[in-house]
Amino acid sequence: MTGELSPIDKAKFVAAKRAVGFVEDGMKVGLGTGSTAAWMVRCLGEMVRDGGLRIQGVPTSTRTAELARQVGIEVISLDEAKWLDLTIDGADEFDGELNLIKGGGGALLQEKIVATASDRMIVIADVAKEVSTLGAFPLPVEVIPFGWQTTKALIEEMLINFEVLNREVTLRMNGEAAFVTDEGNFIVDLHLGRIGNPRQLSLALNQVPGVVENGLFIDICDVVVIGHGDGRVEVRDINAGTVEEEKIDLLGSENIFSDL
Ligand code: A5P
Repeated sequence: MTGELSPIDKAKFVAAKRAVGFVEDGMKVGLGTGSTAAWMVRCLGEMVRDGGLRIQGVPTSTRTAELARQVGIEVISLDEAKWLDLTIDGADEFDGELNLIKGGGGALLQEKIVATASDRMIVIADVAKEVSTLGAFPLPVEVIPFGWQTTKALIEEMLINFEVLNREVTLRMNGEAAFVTDEGNFIVDLHLGRIGNPRQLSLALNQVPGVVENGLFIDICDVVVIGHGDGRVEVRDINAGTVEEEKIDLLGSENIFSDL
């Protein structure tokens, strides 16, 4: 079955598989959203079912909550957990300082709250997500539906003073209607090409009335686990300044692939 995975899925899987090695018995773990995070949830489910691992998971979306329950992870709310030992999540882009763009899957608000409420955030990503400068991936910004067009116009005006390549702002759609987040909000995607100063942009965006949160994760991620299609993983720890590389054996993971 593993032979049927595309190189990109293998890369996502091995990153997830390596990252769950950071999870210890008794931990409260933030569970990210997206295709890479879904692999991580399946790997954790296997450790719970077959290895007797006892953890409590705080999902970052209704999709992840559903998958976590399905694979046997005990799900609790962030308010029940209060603080987490670790969050493992995917990213749309990461740079050399482990600053991120997230929210391609529309879950950036819960993802940022959960990651910030964790002792440690580990990002799992295939190698294609690494960039020298953030911004090629459109930056998601969650806005409240009330007056969203005004909020969009204010963001466009604000962007004039920022070091970005393009300034196109689009409302995220779901077919004919606006995409609605788990919190009942809309998302506008900022097509910037290049973000010269992500920290400054993040602060400025959150000052715009109507903006709930933006998808720039600055100084939140501690470790990135980068997966390659041939099974290699690289673990970069920004605090320890270490980089480790190893190869993950895909054999023995058939149970996970068989539920797909
Ligand atoms: C979800 O809102 C996002 O932040 C995801 O973590 C991000 O889009 C990565 O998703 P994939 O793992 O599917 O690429």
